[in-house]
Amino acid sequence: MQKTNNKYSAEITAVGMYVPEKIMDNKYFETIVDTNDEWIVTRTGIRERRKMEFGATSDMAVKAAEDLFKTTQVKPEDIEVIIVATVTPDMFFPATACLVQERIGAVNAWGFDLSAACSGFLFALQTGASLVQSGAYKNCLVIGADKMSSIVDYTDRNTCLLFGDAGSAVLLERTENPDLGVKDSLLHVDGSGKESLYMKGGGSLNPASYETVDNKMHYVYQDGKAVFKVAVKGMADISAEIMEKNNLKSEDVAYLVPHQANMRIIDATGKRMGLPPEKVMVNIDRYGNTTAATIPLCLTEYYRDGKIKKGDKLILSAFGAGYTWGAIYLVWSMD
Ligand code: UT7
Repeated sequence: MQKTNNKYSAEITAVGMYVPEKIMDNKYFETIVDTNDEWIVTRTGIRERRKMEFGATSDMAVKAAEDLFKTTQVKPEDIEVIIVATVTPDMFFPATACLVQERIGAVNAWGFDLSAACSGFLFALQTGASLVQSGAYKNCLVIGADKMSSIVDYTDRNTCLLFGDAGSAVLLERTENPDLGVKDSLLHVDGSGKESLYMKGGGSLNPASYETVDNKMHYVYQDGKAVFKVAVKGMADISAEIMEKNNLKSEDVAYLVPHQANMRIIDATGKRMGLPPEKVMVNIDRYGNTTAATIPLCLTEYYRDGKIKKGDKLILSAFGAGYTWGAIYLVWSMD
């Protein structure tokens, strides 16, 4: 991002989350595919993940937003923009943002969905921040929500145990304090990675047919090894680059807030930034990879546990399908 000379900053003033009640632990996966707890924990860091049994992505997004509204004076009718980052929208159209708008009563908002897979929350946060920093809008509700269980093949051991369902939200508000909020971002796409991680069916290229269903084209396909290699390098490089660009030393950074796809990718990123493990947010053990929800879920839990304080410098980073990847440097605003 080119540095802008905006009069306004965009700060996070509230957070919220929702995870479904049903837990799928590693033992459960031992009963449905050829795997074992030891392999899953050592290769991924995941111990359990959640599954939404009834309902859709918008239901989790709404619950996360309702959780957020319990903690702020801002009311749904005050919301001006809603961005929902997701790869599992309720339907192709209307946008999930419209469904959320109606359900929460954000009668004065416009909004849209944003598709950037595991980098979705970062792309949405930067988009929302730009709208607020420009002065055009006072606030933006940024939601990351994915019902990954709706596109996962529970007979494929390469993918089924990696993903979970969740929704989480942050409220961005305008401030004139230049020291707080979203300070900088580095975001990228590279379509040459399109066939390493994708869902082949259901779009205009391969519309739903008996054949696409028989060929399991409506499920996540991932070449794990190929993605792992580029994800480790991509997330570590971009996180180090945004620190350097903003003259941040490891001791200046309160936390790395990484996308939760694999504990080994998270560890490599933290190491590259020179951060001790206690400065790296982790909840992959309990939720797995919830795609667009991982980063706001970490922010919400760590904030509510009293682990983040006003003025803390955070580096958010992610890598995902597309490829998409990036990092955001943000100064926390809430006490
Ligand atoms: O979130 C968006 C971006 N996505 C990512 O960042 C994910 C990136 N990739 C990964 O996290 C990892 O590649 C995986 C966790 C998906 C896989 O880990 P890996 O260390 O790359 O394993 P692998 O695919 O190289 O497989 C190693 C071995 C193979 O056996 P052989 O060929 O060495 O005998 C697999 O057949 O592990 C075997 N294997 C399994 N064993 C038990 C693969 N899946 C399983 C399984 N349980 N579920």
